[in-house]
Amino acid sequence: MKIDLIAKKNWTGRVLVGFMFDGDKTPLAIPGDEGKSYAAVAAGEKFTGQFKKTSLLRPGSGAPKLILAGLGKRKEFELDRVRSASAKALKRVEEIGAESIGLLVPDNKEVRGDLADFAAAAVEGAILSSYRFDKYRTPKADEAKAVGELTLVFANTKNLSVAMRKAVDEVVARSEAVCFTRDLANEPPSPKPPEKMAEIAAGLAKKGRITVEVMHKAELEKLGMGGILRVGAGSHQPPCLVHLTYTPAGKSKQTVVVIGKGITFDSGGISIKPSAGMEAMKDDMAGAGSVLGLFKWLGSVDVPVTVHGLAPFAENMPGGGAQKPGDVIRHYNGKTAEVISTDAEGRHLLADCLAYGSTLKPDLMIDIATLTGACVVALGDEYSALLGTDRRAIDRLISVGKQQGEFFWELPLPDRYMSHLKSKVADMKHVGKPGIAGTITAGLFLKEFVGEGVPWVHIDIAGPSFTREGWDYAPAGATGVPLRTIAALLRGL
Ligand code: BES
Ligand code: ZN
Ligand code: ZN
Repeated sequence: MKIDLIAKKNWTGRVLVGFMFDGDKTPLAIPGDEGKSYAAVAAGEKFTGQFKKTSLLRPGSGAPKLILAGLGKRKEFELDRVRSASAKALKRVEEIGAESIGLLVPDNKEVRGDLADFAAAAVEGAILSSYRFDKYRTPKADEAKAVGELTLVFANTKNLSVAMRKAVDEVVARSEAVCFTRDLANEPPSPKPPEKMAEIAAGLAKKGRITVEVMHKAELEKLGMGGILRVGAGSHQPPCLVHLTYTPAGKSKQTVVVIGKGITFDSGGISIKPSAGMEAMKDDMAGAGSVLGLFKWLGSVDVPVTVHGLAPFAENMPGGGAQKPGDVIRHYNGKTAEVISTDAEGRHLLADCLAYGSTLKPDLMIDIATLTGACVVALGDEYSALLGTDRRAIDRLISVGKQQGEFFWELPLPDRYMSHLKSKVADMKHVGKPGIAGTITAGLFLKEFVGEGVPWVHIDIAGPSFTREGWDYAPAGATGVPLRTIAALLRGL
């Protein structure tokens, strides 16, 4: 989507989108009698600015169409409402067949908080809701086209500032990174084997201050990354580990390691999954996908932090060389785990990477994974689970996430449940008791691989990484969660 900024007097488009708070006498940026008359017409159709509702106004011939999007009551306002309202407006725009729109930016006195944040959120809602994964489908003749061009229209040109342009540019870059992550996870499994993912990751080194190193099978063997290797052993497609590094232009204030589970297809392996719904397991690399998306974003911004991304890729298949229940896997830090179900594969990749990431002496280490079905049972598809040892980072992720419309809920890591992982043949079993605290015991397993004193947070995105139906600004398919929250967290460091 092409994004522009323009003064209202210079705007000549045919469709204008505006916002309105429920209870206000006029829409935002249309004050006085003009605004009141629009509000009166809309009220005739029962639109008063209710959240997620829209109203299409067709003023007298010659004038552009106006679509009002409701933000709900002022006292209930949260920035994320702007994204949702913008998405609803875009849907209405598509219905009337317009491909280019103006989006009326309020005056700074009309909204709480920073106006640039408001405008950026509107742009973000528009871009993210217009996302389509159309690579493999033939569009129907009568299908609504996505909006291709959005112009931010400023009634008060004082608001058309350098800071405003910067905020918009930044959100465009971030939204494009989210769409890139969605593309990776929506891609069918066979065209994205581990080596292909590594190739895509290597392409990210072209921009900004990013370097990419790919560790192939032979190197993983040398390093002793038994987790990645054994999980990948059941496929003809060899596993690999991608290490991306972002070095800031100025002085680095902190080092952050972000790890993402990259199972390009999870058949379950020898402990094969039931076939119903198995197609969704192409999304089992969404964690690694968001790490790659994060580096796509890092290619266009300046943050004073060194960021390491670790993306282990493997295909979990039941081929002849596959790991078997009863096998013992030795991980990068030497710890061994008895395999009970080859379908609990993600934790082995993460274990190697958490141990490896710890050697980089990070101030914060985050891993992101579609790790447990139990997490979907507990929290559904709106909330990701957070578990870890860094109180501040967990609190921060929850509050930053709320602003981003990405939701997190903390689960505990009780020592007592470590007994569920006791093994007679290895240092531990890799899974706990069937049906009991599956997300937590997975977290406890991972904790064993985090280096002494390394602040760590595990994010289980099994629910929110994917949406069957779609929601406000996430069309059906991969969502890109939690990329925007991690980006905002890094931005704020
Ligand atoms: N990739 C799955 C987890 C998953 C399930 C993600 C549903 C998204 C939606 C993971 O590898 C897995 O299969 N986990 C098992 C672990 C069990 C065998 C201990 C699970 O959750 O059933
Ligand atoms: Zn699995
Ligand atoms: Zn998996």
